[in-house]
Amino acid sequence: MRRRYTAADLGVLTPDEVSRFVPRGDGNPQDDVVLAWELLYRLEPELYDRLASAERLHPGGVGWLPRDLHRIAEVGAGTGRLTMALIERGQRVVAVEPALPLRRILRRKLLAAGHADRVRVVGGFFDKIPLPDDFAGLVVACSAFTPSPGHGGEAGLAEMERVCRPGGCVAVVWPNHIDWLAARGYRYVTFPGPMSVEFGSYHEAVKLSDIFYPTAAGEVRRLRSRTVPFEVLGVNPPRDLAFKVLTR
Ligand SMILES: C[S@@+](CC[C@H](N)C(=O)[O-])C[C@H]1O[C@@H](n2cnc3c(N)ncnc32)[C@H](O)[C@@H]1O
Repeated sequence: MRRRYTAADLGVLTPDEVSRFVPRGDGNPQDDVVLAWELLYRLEPELYDRLASAERLHPGGVGWLPRDLHRIAEVGAGTGRLTMALIERGQRVVAVEPALPLRRILRRKLLAAGHADRVRVVGGFFDKIPLPDDFAGLVVACSAFTPSPGHGGEAGLAEMERVCRPGGCVAVVWPNHIDWLAARGYRYVTFPGPMSVEFGSYHEAVKLSDIFYPTAAGEVRRLRSRTVPFEVLGVNPPRDLAFKVLTR
């Protein structure tokens, strides 16, 4: 991934994106893998979607989220890995996603599934969520929020809590900085059982591993299967979440 893009590709970012992802103006995706992922979302969104579709969330985590809600807000919705499941948990979902190419894919999937009328897909960032105070009973992010200011941070968490109504739940699914969230009052839940990445085919497993998990690519070839355990890839499985029920 680090070698996939160069600084010349940064031109694809909008000024709002540059201010968050390249705040000092001197970013290089070859030194900064987080920046390389942002370029992937914008330059090769279908490739990203193939990976996200294979890395399925633990059904226990999705099932744990509150249900029968009036409104749900998801931030950093991407191509809808979680969004499609949120539809069953609320009457209306607003999916906030900064990357235009990912929003397009998400809208296409919602149309195909007949859910375009229940989910509004909008542009926006963690630190400036385009929704009013107390908007939703569940405000959730999946594999998107981090403590870094460009990808959430203190301002982003405060925004998610602002948009959540009193008594509602803010949840970070597949969190990567559990201690940071715990220090801010978030409780942690994890769901047991073996978990694998379900690639579309063995050929796809090889192709995507070469790009996204190069150190595991040899083992993926040796397995000769489209199903690859997360441990083989050296990735924390998407089996957990951190949450806070707002009391204010
Ligand atoms: C790994 S993807 C996860 C997407 C989706 N939630 C999923 O689980 O498939 C990370 C997502 O976070 C979004 N993102 C990155 N920075 C963001 C920010 N500052 N505010 C909101 N979303 C952001 C990206 O555009 C991308 O869609």
